[in-house]
Amino acid sequence: MTRTQDHERLSELKKILIVGSGGRENSIAWALAQNKNIQQIYVCPGNGGTSSYKKCVCLKSKSESEASIIKDCQRLKIDLVIIGPEDPLAAGLADKLRKSGLIVFGPCKEGAKLEASKDWAKTLMIDNNIPTANYWTTESEEEALRILESYGGPLVIKADGLAAGKGVTVCKTIQESKNAIEEVFSGKFGSAGKKIILEEKIEGPEVSIFALTDGEKLIVLPPAQDHKRLLDGDKGPNTGGMGAYAPATLVNQDDLIEIEEQILKPTLKGLQNKGIKYIGVIYAGLMLTSSGPKVIEFNCRFGDPECQALMPLMGEELAAVLFSCALGELEKSPKLSFKNTCSACVIAASQGYPENPKKGDIIDIQIEPNPSLQIFHSGTKINQNDNLITSGGRVLSVVTQGQNFNEAFQLAYKSLNKINFKGMHYRKDVGYQVRNNYSG
Ligand code: AMP
Ligand code: GLY
Repeated sequence: MTRTQDHERLSELKKILIVGSGGRENSIAWALAQNKNIQQIYVCPGNGGTSSYKKCVCLKSKSESEASIIKDCQRLKIDLVIIGPEDPLAAGLADKLRKSGLIVFGPCKEGAKLEASKDWAKTLMIDNNIPTANYWTTESEEEALRILESYGGPLVIKADGLAAGKGVTVCKTIQESKNAIEEVFSGKFGSAGKKIILEEKIEGPEVSIFALTDGEKLIVLPPAQDHKRLLDGDKGPNTGGMGAYAPATLVNQDDLIEIEEQILKPTLKGLQNKGIKYIGVIYAGLMLTSSGPKVIEFNCRFGDPECQALMPLMGEELAAVLFSCALGELEKSPKLSFKNTCSACVIAASQGYPENPKKGDIIDIQIEPNPSLQIFHSGTKINQNDNLITSGGRVLSVVTQGQNFNEAFQLAYKSLNKINFKGMHYRKDVGYQVRNNYSG
């Protein structure tokens, strides 16, 4: 192909379908809509906020089955499908869509094992000398208890499969480790708990690194930091994430190059060696230990809420970059630029989140439009009376940009004062690592 033909291929990208219903998918839709060539973005099923972003609409398929998504894509002449969450990826949605001739950003079922089986991912790491915590794996409860006993200290206990973020227990005592082993084998996690990973505890700040890949080459995005715990001061139970900011200052440009060379490229090589053409996001959850960055987990998709903080930093080339990845031709894509600004995201959650989130409360938003502010809806829907109501644990992602993080978070928290729903709660200290106007 000549450069002109490349350009023509990329300019064919007009209609995009994004699979998913969270803040992550809405933020991707919003970012892609910034590209003037994009005519329409469907989010399937989307949520109560999707159609508030220009060019974006919800696609309510009769069912969310693969067959109906394929039919809709054909009917609507979709040029690119982006799959947001891990569950459909692990179930092989990307494979089925590709088989029907669609162009898809998101890994195949085999590649999604990077997230869907911790044992599989660990083996790939060991085989490719990727730094990670030492571990053992077994399908037997007795053996797990024996490993614990001979180790002689508390371990991190992980169910092998997808457990909606609840399959990991970082234990403080041997007794806690025993309880966590029993819990995994109790059937609580279904087939995800057939196998167990026992891991040595490592220490250090955590950072989320995202690479976009066409299976051969990759582009590393600015680093982001998530806030997994429910309460200020990193206390309380683990959640899907209560806030994020990017670019995280925990890693500088040199560190990022090292992470690319020692972690991301070997991961891609390892996937290639298994015959997997991995198209999509490689999300490396890293711990920055005293002996260098180590992988805590891999995910096969963007993080939520890291994605919401990252998307406003993306240049409008993002659409062409994702399309080029999906076509397996990243080298033909324009260079992805990043805005030189600080981005903050604070999650407003519903009463009872994460254990027992309450749904159905009316949401009141009294915010003036501002180019440095985006409200990405996560768990919302429109009810029969046309009211916006809560429909999930994480309700809204309030995302703001500023010259520095103080400015960005100031706007985020000012905006949160103008949002209201019954039982709404949020962390007041998101970004404490990079704000000097937060006193704790
Ligand atoms: P994961 O679902 O694997 O990301 O684990 C959830 C959280 O558990 C991580 O964000 C870490 O805070 C913690 N964690 C996981 N593995 C380890 C480990 N080996 N050592 C210490 N903390 C860990
Ligand atoms: N924010 C963590 C995740 O998406 O898994």
